[in-house]
Amino acid sequence: MSRSRAPVVQKEGIAEVLDRLAGVLRNRKDPQAERAADRDAAAPIARGAQAAPEQHNPPAKRNRSIGALLVDSGRLSPTDTEAVLRLARDEHLRFGDAAVRLGLVTRADVQHALARQFDYPYLAPGDDTLSPEVIAAYAPFSPAVQALRDLRTQLMLRWTDAEPPRKTLALVSPGRGDGRSYLAANLAVVFSQLGERTLLIDADLRNPRQHEIFRIPGRLGLSALLARRGDENVIHRIGGLLGLSVLPAGAAPPNPLELLSRSGFGALLSGLSAQYDVIVLDTPASELGTDFQSVAAAAGGALLITRRNVTRTADAQALSDSVAAAAVVVGAVINDH
Ligand SMILES: Nc1ncnc2c1ncn2[C@@H]1O[C@H](COP(=O)(O)OP(=O)(O)OP(=O)(O)O)[C@@H](O)[C@H]1O
Ligand SMILES: [Mg+2]
Repeated sequence: MSRSRAPVVQKEGIAEVLDRLAGVLRNRKDPQAERAADRDAAAPIARGAQAAPEQHNPPAKRNRSIGALLVDSGRLSPTDTEAVLRLARDEHLRFGDAAVRLGLVTRADVQHALARQFDYPYLAPGDDTLSPEVIAAYAPFSPAVQALRDLRTQLMLRWTDAEPPRKTLALVSPGRGDGRSYLAANLAVVFSQLGERTLLIDADLRNPRQHEIFRIPGRLGLSALLARRGDENVIHRIGGLLGLSVLPAGAAPPNPLELLSRSGFGALLSGLSAQYDVIVLDTPASELGTDFQSVAAAAGGALLITRRNVTRTADAQALSDSVAAAAVVVGAVINDH
């Protein structure tokens, strides 16, 4: 894992924060759009960012054959495997190509098995384990997910791999529907796909959604841990995505701000930091109260999300200022949806 010292954006006005991020998320093929993005908060996250070199490729594990993976996943029967092996041998084909030629599996099945063989977990189209919103799991090679990987790279340079390395990051934004939950879920997935032990915590105790996105039971979660009514068994491993765990918000408490402001929250995060490489926290919109501030303070760092053509610059500035009082503003993202 390369460790590079990178400046962290801290206590700057929103214009400067966005300026620094401009090189990260804007469409580099359109310099005019870049300038507009700086001015009016219009640089899209999920569009056109150039591929950044991957820095943390986990070592490929090829100890399971494609055939075994296709059989394990129920795509191919052991009997059909024989026919595939025969064709592959006779025609000098690769196993996957032979299976496709025989009409026993689709190209997508083979691509999925290859990804698993190379420890790059994602879910096959049609698999409804998770909400389709988790595009990083379902469409990992799409341009939108490439933009998420670029964002991940920048966060590694500025936060998780900076000096000193930090693990926890809260996603904050001014308004409802800005995309905090969507981005938190997908960012957590792209970090986990890099081989990082990743924990996504739903610290939005007001309108929690990660349990729906990851289709896990949402009854017990962070609120129970903070109220000391649960143990870490409320953290769920996500099947099909190695290394990803989710701590749902749990039952909505009457006093979310009070729970999140207790010292127990910071202690919980420190304890979890020993078990995970990256911890991503979802938060409520800042317009609903100051929960976000407690979460950002406990995390130590925050990524500011703004929504293109919706977030007012003054609101983003105010949020940036109030986060900066308690934590490092690692950067800002303009979500275009
Ligand atoms: N970049 C995006 N691309 C496509 N859809 C998106 C994107 N960002 C957000 N969405 C969609 O917009 C809707 C609102 O997003 P999300 O729930 O993440 O917002 P939020 O900021 O968490 O809102 P809340 O205040 O309710 O917690 C969801 O349906 C989500 O799937
Ligand atoms: Mg949300």
